[in-house]
Amino acid sequence: MNDYIEKNKERFIEELKALLRVPSVSADPAFKQDVLKMAELTKKALLDAGADMAELCDTPGYPIVYAEKIIDPSKPTVLVYGHYDVQPADPLELWDSPPFEPVLKEGKIYARGAADDKGQVYMHVKAFEMMMRTDSLPCNVKFMIEGEEEVGSKGLSWFVPRNKEKLKSDVILISDTSIIADDIPSITTGLRGLSYVQVEVTGPKRDLHSGIYGGAVANPINILCDMISDLIDRDGQITIPGFYDDVANLSAEERTEMNKAPFSLDDYKKELDVKAVKGEKGYTTIERASIRPTLDVNGIWGGYIGEGAKTVLPAKAFAKISMRLVPNQESEKITKLFQEYFESAAPDYVTVKVYPHHGGEAVVTAIDSKAYKAASKAMETTFGKKPIPTRGGGSIPIVALFKKELGLDSILMGFGLDSDDIHSPNESYGIFNYLKGIETIAHFFKNFAE
Ligand code: BES
Ligand code: MN
Ligand code: MN
Repeated sequence: MNDYIEKNKERFIEELKALLRVPSVSADPAFKQDVLKMAELTKKALLDAGADMAELCDTPGYPIVYAEKIIDPSKPTVLVYGHYDVQPADPLELWDSPPFEPVLKEGKIYARGAADDKGQVYMHVKAFEMMMRTDSLPCNVKFMIEGEEEVGSKGLSWFVPRNKEKLKSDVILISDTSIIADDIPSITTGLRGLSYVQVEVTGPKRDLHSGIYGGAVANPINILCDMISDLIDRDGQITIPGFYDDVANLSAEERTEMNKAPFSLDDYKKELDVKAVKGEKGYTTIERASIRPTLDVNGIWGGYIGEGAKTVLPAKAFAKISMRLVPNQESEKITKLFQEYFESAAPDYVTVKVYPHHGGEAVVTAIDSKAYKAASKAMETTFGKKPIPTRGGGSIPIVALFKKELGLDSILMGFGLDSDDIHSPNESYGIFNYLKGIETIAHFFKNFAE
């Protein structure tokens, strides 16, 4: 590890812990003041690190934190993107320590947002600070840190097309993804898209006594369950007509290559505590979780879920459903296909409504660009191993918009692990990853500026 990081690492950790204490949950309006506070703190951190200017830019939603350090307009510019908002922490009772009281345990820092994305954003802030204090920032840098990534990036989608000049740069650098393992570095070269909907099934006009009416009137929860299970067949294929029409299929060579990445199905199952894995027939686990589209119920509710028992035939049932998409599926088109199919599949005894939420497109990034090579070389220097390009299964919908609106490619150089439990209870981020990230980012800047 280099000197500056070694000397300052305790402070780097303490500063991150302070940010992790702010519950900047964008999904829940109850946390509005905390989200705004987090934006202020992010701006301050960038100024303290040495930015020429930093500001909060208004959007229809939460503000964008924008900052820059221009050393020489004739030099290349790196635009760093990340998010200061976090996922809700529930279910709270499953956390070993409170989600917004960060603790260090066995080399990891535990808190909501530790890996996704506060810890990873802060690596960039500290790498920037290091380059400033050691007089080694080799090119210009701009920061664009948003507060609505976890809820669909509406504000940023509004901001980007209106600020093309301000955001002008040569590449976008993002740390919001994972590596394969601490000793197996990788760079994410693709993300899945997303279609997210809520469905509502309505039966009788009021809740009914399940003894008086049960067996004679359709139960919306039962019907919803039937309808959901009909969405995926025995081979793990999604049954919505047209769903696969635009899916980009990979060549046999590409599939062989991606399956060479280190992966142990036994370890995978052990880590998740499942006896077997399930997925689309004809594809490996790596493929199912990256290059193939999916459909999952994220939540389902209705009827009585309180203490004890209540005999009721509920009037309504609900579910939240997400579909992960791959190149060249289009989010809007898939959402529409889902809506048409699901509403038309409703049997006469219920009515079904589909409400689209948010979505985004999949992306694939090049591995022969100057920026990719700079990232690959940086990781090779700091990890001692050449990183493996891997297609990721998650989504960062704004990446496709960056390409469309700004014409810029993104480098997805994240340092988390899939076992960090992002979005889950007990989210954590390894101190190893945090410090390694800071070091690697500085190398990226050096390589990219050359
Ligand atoms: N950082 C994640 C995305 C991610 C994580 C990509 C790990 C690859 C590996 C991001 O914050 C996220 O959670 N995105 C959401 C999408 C958004 C529209 C809510 C997701 O993937 O569910
Ligand atoms: Mn994230
Ligand atoms: Mn996330």
